[in-house]
Amino acid sequence: MIYLDYAATTPVDQRVLDAMMPYFRENFGNPSSIHRLGQKAETAVEQAREKVAAVLGCRADEIIFTSGGSEADNLALRGAAKAGQNASGGTWILTAKTEHPAVSKTALQLAKEYGFQLEWLDVDAHGMVTVESLAKAVCGNTIIASVMYANNEIGTINPIAELAEIAKNNNIILHTDAVQAAAYLDVNVASLDVDLMSLGGHKFYGPKGVGALYVRKGTNLVPHLTGGGQEFSLRAGTHNVPYIVGFAEALSHAAQERETRTEHVKPMRDHIIGTVLETIPDSKLTGHPEQRLPNHASFVFKDVDGNLLLQLLDAAGFACSSGSACKTGNPEPSEVVTALGYSRDWALGSLRITLGADTTAEQVDLFLKDLPALVEKARTLSR
Ligand SMILES: Cc1ncc(COP(=O)(O)O)c(C=O)c1O
Repeated sequence: MIYLDYAATTPVDQRVLDAMMPYFRENFGNPSSIHRLGQKAETAVEQAREKVAAVLGCRADEIIFTSGGSEADNLALRGAAKAGQNASGGTWILTAKTEHPAVSKTALQLAKEYGFQLEWLDVDAHGMVTVESLAKAVCGNTIIASVMYANNEIGTINPIAELAEIAKNNNIILHTDAVQAAAYLDVNVASLDVDLMSLGGHKFYGPKGVGALYVRKGTNLVPHLTGGGQEFSLRAGTHNVPYIVGFAEALSHAAQERETRTEHVKPMRDHIIGTVLETIPDSKLTGHPEQRLPNHASFVFKDVDGNLLLQLLDAAGFACSSGSACKTGNPEPSEVVTALGYSRDWALGSLRITLGADTTAEQVDLFLKDLPALVEKARTLSR
């Protein structure tokens, strides 16, 4: 099997696994316990927090560990919306239809069930939220804008620092979902100037089921998981010590090795984009041609059932995706691709190829050799 789906998830780096292992059996204490075993675990969690803070360029007590990217997004949106409403009576939430469902569905629920108002920010043809679209939408009653750093389905990178300036000038909170971005882009919160930022471990060779939310000092959140006082009373629950240790280790490696990892994948990504557009009729690149993740190539093929194409690719030995992992099996076109303005006959045929540490040029060549015939077959069978 040739794995070309690193945006869905990545294997755990051996160094990360080695760092995690002692916290399953030897140092298994609960960080909230007073005794030495507990203190050892607490030290591990606090060291992990400092490691994450060093990558983000923030204070350690601005990092809240969560069960993943989805929970970080939920804490950011729910927490900030409620706190903002309590403080100023604000009601508006701004986000885009291109967001991951962890953001868009949360915003929709806040509007439907909890009385907030939701405005979808315009995106351009590449799925980018522009400075103008945010400036146009923001009003006196806006609490928060949530705009992802890099898109999981189409790879487009948003101009977060510029959007943050608009947010700051209008006194609103800016949250960014950096779950995909952290594997390849600079996530320094001082230069991005965001108030809240979500991360998820399994996109950068860390374990699944662990993430973090950066919360800028002074940004008030109402916790949505109540109980014990862990994580500065913002996220109750006994710490998942080995996973937190693994998360920090993986993020540290991602930051240190960012350039070499980018140099490894980017030429292969460009080769895929060029060859697919050249060899496959009725194909288009989705997302931004330049401002995109260096490991990410995504396309639409006219009159092709994307899920059928994925099955044919799977049978031929290639693991790819049609968008986010959550979309697989859903016969409706992706909301992200639809938001770019593609009609149904194009939007249904989406394909995402994402590269990573173990991808080789030979694997890419095999893929590019087989893909045109598989698209043609899917097209014939989709008629
Ligand atoms: C942009 C983005 N946000 C959030 C998530 C959800 O993260 P997790 O799987 O850690 O809950 C994902 C995962 O695919 C993602 O790509």
